Amino acid sequence: MNIETLEDLFGYQLQRAYYVERTQVELLAELVSNTSDDDLADRLATHREQTEDHVVRLEGLFETLGRQPYASRTRTADGVAESWRQHEESPESVPTVLEIALVSERLEIRAYESLLTLAGRLAYGEDVVEPLEAILEEERATLDALEALETERSVLEPVAADDT
Ligand SMILES: [Fe+2]
Repeated sequence: MNIETLEDLFGYQLQRAYYVERTQVELLAELVSNTSDDDLADRLATHREQTEDHVVRLEGLFETLGRQPYASRTRTADGVAESWRQHEESPESVPTVLEIALVSERLEIRAYESLLTLAGRLAYGEDVVEPLEAILEEERATLDALEALETERSVLEPVAADDT
């Protein structure tokens, strides 16, 4: 797609966000079934449901803008998914479920922040801004919860190692 205007750029970023969300629905399912950490699994399963809803919300946004929903591949999202999928061959050199989930959330948050900045410049109305803000809020709440788990786990890890 040719990007000549801010509107084009917004459309393109929306297509990328749509791709990331759809990728995340699959990836989150894999992460949930590959962790023995119940708190983490619950968190990720809840976020997977939210992510399915994000896909629907983004489809609504395409409609609001009079566009066809279309997913533009993003290398970063593919890279995160690929780095996870190598875990079957070399589990020791692959990031953990929690690390993959954290990277994914940060990626999504950046994408929605930039969409909201563009929406502001384009003076888009609440019908565009509100769904993006609602999604961003859920991504941020998920990141906060994952970071809290990360802190908790890093505090507990040395204790667990001492037990052995
Ligand atoms: Fe997310």
